[in-house]
Amino acid sequence: MIRSTIICFLIFIAAITTNAQNKIINPGAIWPDDRGNHVQAHGGGIIKIKDTYYWYGEERAQGLDPKFRYVSCYSSKDLTNWKFKGDVVKMSDPENLGDGWILERPKVYYNKSTRKYVMYFHLDTRNYQYARVGIAVSDKPDGNYTFVKSFRPLDHQSRDIGQFIDDDGTAYLIFEDRALGFHIVKLADDYMSVAKEMSLVHMPLEGGAVVHYNGLYYAIGSSLTGWDPNPNKYATATSLEGPWSEFKDIAPPETKTYHSQSTMMLKVVGTKTTTVIFMADQWKPNAQWDSRYLWMPLEIGDGKLWLNEPKPWSIDVKTGEHKFVADTNK
Ligand code: DGJ
Repeated sequence: MIRSTIICFLIFIAAITTNAQNKIINPGAIWPDDRGNHVQAHGGGIIKIKDTYYWYGEERAQGLDPKFRYVSCYSSKDLTNWKFKGDVVKMSDPENLGDGWILERPKVYYNKSTRKYVMYFHLDTRNYQYARVGIAVSDKPDGNYTFVKSFRPLDHQSRDIGQFIDDDGTAYLIFEDRALGFHIVKLADDYMSVAKEMSLVHMPLEGGAVVHYNGLYYAIGSSLTGWDPNPNKYATATSLEGPWSEFKDIAPPETKTYHSQSTMMLKVVGTKTTTVIFMADQWKPNAQWDSRYLWMPLEIGDGKLWLNEPKPWSIDVKTGEHKFVADTNK
């Protein structure tokens, strides 16, 4: 009797320690998932399916088999607590790219007509000269995803990619093309190829992201400085086809975007208001598994976009409201 009581007590303690709820989003901190491990979803992107958010990114945990590249998937109902759904891609070199081949910045789109989840990612050789997008497909959001093909969108070099889904559901890919700038292209109806160029913005930016807010498109990106942070910039346009305004800093330039690099802007439309979240990576190139996430609600509207100094905050995804709070995860 005493033995079983002790066992029950230990199980209870284990359950409350592993399922501790995060109450806040704390930019730059360790973000424990439902297992208590730091979230591994670097260079990532988020889609919402019904009331569930899925976050995909580069899995860079220590001890992975170096032959493979991994994409992780996490799910959440509140954007604050993330359940690890597994590595939905575990891929060996698909096209004889050689040692150090690269799979970065995965983004997933759900195609309503084919009912397929279509993942785009940057596929490259170690020296970043292959410069293509890869596509992998799944029947379910949480995989597994099967590699289909790679290509250069509209025959252009493509390195960092970003994802944008407009309010009418149209899916766009953003990709960086060193010599020319960055492209915003519309995906074909089945999302398995690129249909049309919307804009070629003559600005050398990577980590590209777009949001449509109150009738205006805002595009952001970072300069081409490898893993090192730099002052990210934004421009606006009334149409995805441009013309785009001049680029301006999104934060005090000396902070180098608070040591981060953009990966996506996520619009949370609630019953009371809308919050646009700046999602960025704080890379640690020599300890990638410990790279952190800087997510912050943006000040946005009337053609202006501004990232305030990061601090803990919380969001109510139902109402769309956010507020700044004390660090109550501790
Ligand atoms: C900057 C990109 O944004 C990252 O995804 C990564 O490709 C690094 N360059 C590599 O230097």
